[in-house]
Amino acid sequence: MSHDTSSGGIRHGGTGHGGGGDGARAGENTRAVGLPTGPAVDERPLRLPVYRSTTYEFATSQEYADVLDGARPGYSYARIDNPTTEAFAYAVAALEGAGVDGEVRGQAFASGMAAISTTLLALTAAGAHVVASRSIYGNTYSLLDGLLRRFGVATDFVDITDLDAVRAAVRPETAVVFTETLSNPTMTVSDLPALAGIAHAAGAALVVDSTFASPAVCRPLEHGADLVLHSGTKYLGGHSDATGGVVVGRPDTMAAIRSARVDLGPCLAPDEAFLLHRGLETLPLRVARQCATAAEFAAAVAAHPAVERVDHPALPTHPGHGLAARLFDAGRYGAVVTVTPHGGREAGMAFADGLRVATIAASLGGTHTLVGHVGSTTHRQMSDDSLQAAGIGPGAVRFSIGVEDPADLIADALASLDRCAEQWRPADRPGAAEG
Ligand SMILES: Cc1ncc(COP(=O)(O)O)c(C=O)c1O
Repeated sequence: MSHDTSSGGIRHGGTGHGGGGDGARAGENTRAVGLPTGPAVDERPLRLPVYRSTTYEFATSQEYADVLDGARPGYSYARIDNPTTEAFAYAVAALEGAGVDGEVRGQAFASGMAAISTTLLALTAAGAHVVASRSIYGNTYSLLDGLLRRFGVATDFVDITDLDAVRAAVRPETAVVFTETLSNPTMTVSDLPALAGIAHAAGAALVVDSTFASPAVCRPLEHGADLVLHSGTKYLGGHSDATGGVVVGRPDTMAAIRSARVDLGPCLAPDEAFLLHRGLETLPLRVARQCATAAEFAAAVAAHPAVERVDHPALPTHPGHGLAARLFDAGRYGAVVTVTPHGGREAGMAFADGLRVATIAASLGGTHTLVGHVGSTTHRQMSDDSLQAAGIGPGAVRFSIGVEDPADLIADALASLDRCAEQWRPADRPGAAEG
């Protein structure tokens, strides 16, 4: 009855809505809501269908109860599970778990922050302790330092490259060591195997935000991480047109995250899931090119006399170069490059404003090259002195390298730097450029 395909494959509405089962003709509104919902397709569609339905019909109450209980596979309600959304989560799990023995699973979220907040809530309780990198994404920092602290979860922020400091910070209540594969804007590389060793010795989970790397650069689960998460809004989607997040890990840990997701409700919308899933298909193509362009771009701008410093792990002078060469896929060092011209804040803003190919905009990981002056955008809460203390020049400009032709991006940056050079001169080391 509920899967009636008698009219040439046209599927009719649910039980009792189609037209009065006892022979009586139902009213027009009853018939309207019971109109056929479309052809029942036996063939497997090549592309991912978008299931917008928030609910699913069952033949019996028992079938419905069994799906809710997990006694039989199926879908009941969109916040709990959705086939399109699940397809995205499965796809990221396949990418992140490619080199891992045993099963890994993914859960999709409405945003990167939804993935991060749900994960942290799932893994902690009042009295728990977190050790986090000092240079993590601003909202992750404020979540740990504000909201979670209010609920009795204490966080110590440390220089994640100082393994002794990490070791000294963990304690018996430490539930999570949290870091990013590559951090903004200095592209600091985390020593994932060493951090996993420290976390596991303390009975804690290593949780890694790998947004800046993507699985086309590094897969943290292969290096000992317990959970890897992403803002899918960046490289995974890749086109700056979909917001989402995802967490991947082993089934036992993922069960707690799924349960917290269902309770908290930050489910990924199916249309967004479709776009994010489609983005994954070109992830290696895009990211390989973006990484190659970023390395070429970093080397070219580092040689310009108006430049004080360039942060990119492909440069042999970058402190994370050796680690990146060991942990990342060959020749891929990420595609974010931070360029600091001489002349401080004013020079940095003028450099960004003078670009014509790159666009001033928030976010990263898309096909367009996007730039932002760090001190007035992502790190605007910090004074010039605290920026300097964090190893960030007040004039730093972050480039998220896109898929444009490298020569155009380089010429654009060099032209803007030429204009900067006329106004701002290197303070103490004329012509110096360093990684
Ligand atoms: C490293 C990192 N993690 C998490 C997020 C949050 O992602 P979303 O904006 O999708 O919530 C961002 C956003 O910029 C990010 O850069």
